[in-house]
Amino acid sequence: MVTELQRTKELEQARDILTVEDFDSVEFWVGNAYQAAYYYQHALGFQPVAWSSLKTGNRRYASYVMQQGGVKIALSAPYSPSDEMAAHHMLHGDGAKVVGLTVRDVEKAWSEAIERGARPIIPPTEEKDDWGTVRYAVIGTYGDVVHRFVERDGYDGPYLPGYQPYKPPVELPDTGLKRIDHVVGNVDWNKMNPTVQFYHEVFGFGTFIEFTEKDISTNYSALRSKVVRNYNNKVKMPINEPAEGPRKSQIEEYVEYYHGAGVQHVALLTNDIISTVREMRRRGVEFINVPRTYYETLTSRVGEIDEEIQELAELGILVDRDDKGYLLQLFTKPIQDRPTFFFEVIQRKGAEGFGKGNFKALFESIEREQAERGNL
Ligand code: FE2
Repeated sequence: MVTELQRTKELEQARDILTVEDFDSVEFWVGNAYQAAYYYQHALGFQPVAWSSLKTGNRRYASYVMQQGGVKIALSAPYSPSDEMAAHHMLHGDGAKVVGLTVRDVEKAWSEAIERGARPIIPPTEEKDDWGTVRYAVIGTYGDVVHRFVERDGYDGPYLPGYQPYKPPVELPDTGLKRIDHVVGNVDWNKMNPTVQFYHEVFGFGTFIEFTEKDISTNYSALRSKVVRNYNNKVKMPINEPAEGPRKSQIEEYVEYYHGAGVQHVALLTNDIISTVREMRRRGVEFINVPRTYYETLTSRVGEIDEEIQELAELGILVDRDDKGYLLQLFTKPIQDRPTFFFEVIQRKGAEGFGKGNFKALFESIEREQAERGNL
């Protein structure tokens, strides 16, 4: 059997061309930022730490910055129907617009990216306020998603210049989320390789792991996936495309309802997935249903693990092993009306993969949901 590590060696190595160091933040364009912020705080356990709105002098949009551990998510909604954000929302519904990447050098990131063929959106820009200076630039990627390169070494504020600290009416405990582990893009039929090629050529990113429809197919639907990553492995971005199956692929359903390519899920790292998932469930977060039968064969599939199988089964947590260790993961249901974006909660105990062994169990469960929506 070819292990994930062996495959990695055969695939392209990452080069540090754009000085990309890490994920910075993810910004969602939504219909109602105020209410979305309530869900992120009360259900997911983020703290609203900053905002920008009419009350802070922003005449264009309302925006709340939700933070938990090292994860920052901005939720923004426009005031005017003629705003670009309104058109985006009408087409896509709530969705991730900006995948922010911290870079060591915005000028270099921009000039190298543009020279290598990236779609320019905002050239290097410097903004200041009382907390210091941020430099950023924005380029396009798949669909209407953009990457914002951010250099924030000289900045102590809660997010970006123009945002003010925000004090929520109630304070709630967090749910143990620490950082963004990976961000996954769904693209249309036959667009995976060109998208991966874009990250190779423009970003210098390497390819990590590859899945084909043989790895990821069920009785009904199928997908293909390749993972691109930066030089230090902190930025990992799987790219999925639909594959032929007897029924509609879940990636195709996404693309149909999102009206194009977009961010499918953001995986958030925890050091204690049992308490994270227990707390999120208590607060009303809905996770995909894992069949009880999944746990009957778990030990034979992944070997000895530290956690009680009974407890994992109770919470519906999935486990997978690769040659470096194992990981625990679970996926929320879509968190908006359309069957598009969802979150993953992940705990890594050595494993560097993405849960390939869980794909089948997971997709069968997703398909039951798809069938309930009449979309299978
Ligand atoms: Fe994932």
